[in-house]
Amino acid sequence: MMSFGFSTPGKTLFGRGTADAIPEHVLGFGQRLLLVRGRSVARVDDIALDLQKKGAVLETVFAEGEPTVSQVIQVVKAGRDHRAQAVVAIGGGSAIDLGKAAAALIPSGSDLMDHLEVVGAGLPLTAQPLPLVAIPTTAGTGAEMTKNAVISVPDAALKVSLRDDRMYPTLAIVDPSLTDHAPREVTVSSGLDAVTQVIEPYLSSRANPLTDALCQPAIRMGLQAVATLIRHEDPDARDALAYVSMISGVALANAGLGAVHGLAGVIGGQTNLAHGLICANLLGPTLDMNFQRTATAGGNLERYSFLRQVISDVFDGWGDQSFLALSDVFELQGVPGLDDLLADNARVDGLIHDALNSSSMKANPVQLTEEDVRAILQMAVCPTA
Ligand SMILES: [Fe+2]
Repeated sequence: MMSFGFSTPGKTLFGRGTADAIPEHVLGFGQRLLLVRGRSVARVDDIALDLQKKGAVLETVFAEGEPTVSQVIQVVKAGRDHRAQAVVAIGGGSAIDLGKAAAALIPSGSDLMDHLEVVGAGLPLTAQPLPLVAIPTTAGTGAEMTKNAVISVPDAALKVSLRDDRMYPTLAIVDPSLTDHAPREVTVSSGLDAVTQVIEPYLSSRANPLTDALCQPAIRMGLQAVATLIRHEDPDARDALAYVSMISGVALANAGLGAVHGLAGVIGGQTNLAHGLICANLLGPTLDMNFQRTATAGGNLERYSFLRQVISDVFDGWGDQSFLALSDVFELQGVPGLDDLLADNARVDGLIHDALNSSSMKANPVQLTEEDVRAILQMAVCPTA
């Protein structure tokens, strides 16, 4: 059998009701806490109050969209001024990434740019991060299970990672009830991000037996859960999607991603489009392209056959259509604004170049050409063309 390594957060708690024990777990790290949170989930107000009642001294910062370099610098300063002993990040992927970056940088005397990939020096952290408790309120990014924080660099129109083996959360608490009644569009696009994040590691050139064992059942579970939640609210489907999202973080941290995320990272850096929406629309076209290129090269198609089987089990009437039909079954309308971006040839050339050189693209199961990537983008804009 192949050799491989495997890493996860220090401890993970999963299940409905696990959020009730947040104060008990968090206060074990100290009373002076930096709380990094999203705005939209009312239950986070209750959690913050409960923490204060039980003795926490909180400095609260709100994540405003995906974290930028300047936001990270501000939040790190707030955490240092507060003499925070630990960071609690509650929210979607943006809040968790902001909290992760803060926990990593508060104890160090160094600058964010010393450690950022691509646009910075990419150096390892100079000190052990603060304890970090990550609590997702959306089922999508799996950020609670990974060792990187995605940071927007507006000056370079790029999104890059702050990444270090010591950045895994100390504790991840995944309570699916925190995702109940999230709006349908958020649920579908973030859910399809999670599904993409179990499909790409499964097809990845870096897949290993342990990530395969996690991804195979999660692909079916995730597709089924999204299909249910498109139609109606369902606590069991919420549980399943929160589980898949958690697994997706483990899978991508250990087996890498692929072309969907290579492109999504670059497009996200140049637009304000939601990551989940971009991934959802790129998934079908990218799977189709990877399948075609693998078939042409005489490669092994077993994993694509598995995917086909799962998709046709979950969606009656899908039959044996091309992967492109995925956009139809999820009633996706394309990515708004992507057509404008594609009308600018020079910009598209740059985007394709950056995507082909991204870290996610390196794990794609086949080497794609510039023309392949151009075709994927075209399909994502206009699925029926
Ligand atoms: Fe993603």
